[in-house]
Amino acid sequence: VKGFLQLIRESSLERNKVERYIDICEDEIQRTEGILSEYLSISKPMTEKREPTDLYLQLQVVLDVMRPYANMNNVNLDLDKAEEPIQIFANPDKIKQVLINFIKNAIEACSNVPNAKVTLRLEVAARKALLTIKDNGIGMSEEQVNRLGSIYFSNKTKGTGLGLTFSYQAIHESGGTVSVSSKPQFGTQFIITLPVLNC
Ligand SMILES: Nc1ncnc2c1ncn2[C@@H]1O[C@H](COP(=O)(O)OP(=O)(O)OP(=O)(O)O)[C@@H](O)[C@H]1O
Ligand SMILES: [Mg+2]
Repeated sequence: VKGFLQLIRESSLERNKVERYIDICEDEIQRTEGILSEYLSISKPMTEKREPTDLYLQLQVVLDVMRPYANMNNVNLDLDKAEEPIQIFANPDKIKQVLINFIKNAIEACSNVPNAKVTLRLEVAARKALLTIKDNGIGMSEEQVNRLGSIYFSNKTKGTGLGLTFSYQAIHESGGTVSVSSKPQFGTQFIITLPVLNC
């Protein structure tokens, strides 16, 4: 937006070019508004509403929100494969927060490794949505893996250890499961399953 505003100010452009640049600026500001309101709704207290929710759509929204965080940490955040749409029965706000928690952890786990990469896959198998979150970060010992999801378990100086406690709870509430495999220095893979509403 800044760049286009400069162009509009500086040069003696034709009217239709100016119009096009203004259109681009408006679109980008609208997108920023959307992302900001996503951020704000995330920090609001959550209601207990559960409704048909498109997991693919929620993942796209979360990826938009998390991409700047990944860039800031020099982490490549990629959606490798995705089936769409995938209807599940859940609280969309909670699902978004769950996705943010896992992706944020994955980014943080590889913020200091070369060629840092967080890869996501979303697919459907046996009436279940399968979301894989894979990182090539610091990984975890067996002891750490066993403590995942227990309240206040954190290895971070600024961590609350609530992210996964909340997430595990929300996933179980929706009839889902979480499995994890991890190796110190190599990375971690989480697989979340959630029952799909209708195939
Ligand atoms: N992808 C991962 N790779 C390595 N360790 C992880 C990963 N995900 C979670 N962990 C470990 O599990 C711990 C608990 O995660 P959780 O999200 O519950 O809390 P946190 O990230 O420490 O704090 P917060 O979520 O409040 O920022 C983390 O501190 C980290 O040690
Ligand atoms: Mg966390």
